[in-house]
Amino acid sequence: MPSVFRPGLFAGHVAIVTGGGSGIGLAIARTLCELGASVAIAGRNPDKLETARAKLTSHGWTVHAGTCDIREVEQVAAFVATVRATLGEISVLINNAGGQFPTPAEALSPKGWDAVIRNNLNGTFYVTREVAVASMIPKRRGRIVNIIANVARGFPGMVHTGAARAGVENMTKTLAVEWAVHDIGVNAIAPGIIRSSGTDRYPEELVEMTRQRTPMKRLGTPEEVAELCAYLASEAASFVTGETWYIDGGAHLWGDTWILPDREAAPLPEAVANLSVEP
Ligand SMILES: NC(=O)c1ccc[n+]([C@@H]2O[C@H](COP(=O)([O-])OP(=O)(O)OC[C@H]3O[C@@H](n4cnc5c(N)ncnc54)[C@H](OP(=O)(O)O)[C@@H]3O)[C@@H](O)[C@H]2O)c1
Repeated sequence: MPSVFRPGLFAGHVAIVTGGGSGIGLAIARTLCELGASVAIAGRNPDKLETARAKLTSHGWTVHAGTCDIREVEQVAAFVATVRATLGEISVLINNAGGQFPTPAEALSPKGWDAVIRNNLNGTFYVTREVAVASMIPKRRGRIVNIIANVARGFPGMVHTGAARAGVENMTKTLAVEWAVHDIGVNAIAPGIIRSSGTDRYPEELVEMTRQRTPMKRLGTPEEVAELCAYLASEAASFVTGETWYIDGGAHLWGDTWILPDREAAPLPEAVANLSVEP
């Protein structure tokens, strides 16, 4: 009987973790390595990737690090081909790479909108399709986990990523049905506020505001997300597909997500009014 988190759970498996050079992705890569997987991490910044690779391989784990911008189809194809040649056929894909910035919708330029949609929606599909066609469909085996966000009630303050993540959530359901015949499970994880390299870039005031609106009144950790991810990537979850798993201390169930201004004055909420700085 398969049991989660036993040593060697992922022995013989090759996993890709996009954005595996930092934060939640790095925690996922570490957990999969600890459980016996060979892991390939991808990102745009080679220094970040090399630091992560060195940390992981210092434990004796098998890790490939490759620069790959998930928005670029050719780079995705080249990365996946290199992983297959270096580590073998890919059976686990964790779509974790992504990024966004807080902004009121009316201050978001079309360029800013496109940047986030290309990254968080298009890039996720490019990697997923490539891995499925190259490895999972021919091998008739795969586990895909998409890291999205809590978009259950829209995403006030980040309209771009809300739309992109909702797209990935719907894609998760579609692929779960289309690829069930190939024994490919597809699930999504919706983290709430997680203390990581991603949230370190947000103003502390915004992070604190989100913490206050989380029933558990704390931030999550990348390791907590990694544990759920390992479960969904494992044989223990072999009959689980097409679902979104919240790991958010109850945030999708309770608490204002946006300070509604008085209709007369209609000021932008203080915490986000000055944040429309696109990278
Ligand atoms: N932390 C949270 O509270 C939270 C909540 C909900 C969802 N999430 C999502 O969870 C994921 C991980 O977040 P995190 O907090 O760990 O932030 P992070 O440290 O910024 O992680 C994002 C990773 O994705 C990579 N990446 C971004 N764009 C990429 C691209 N075009 N191609 C390849 N790699 C790319 C980044 O590396 P490079 O910059 O080197 O490319 C980075 O390693 C993100 O998708 C994030 O939006 C986070």
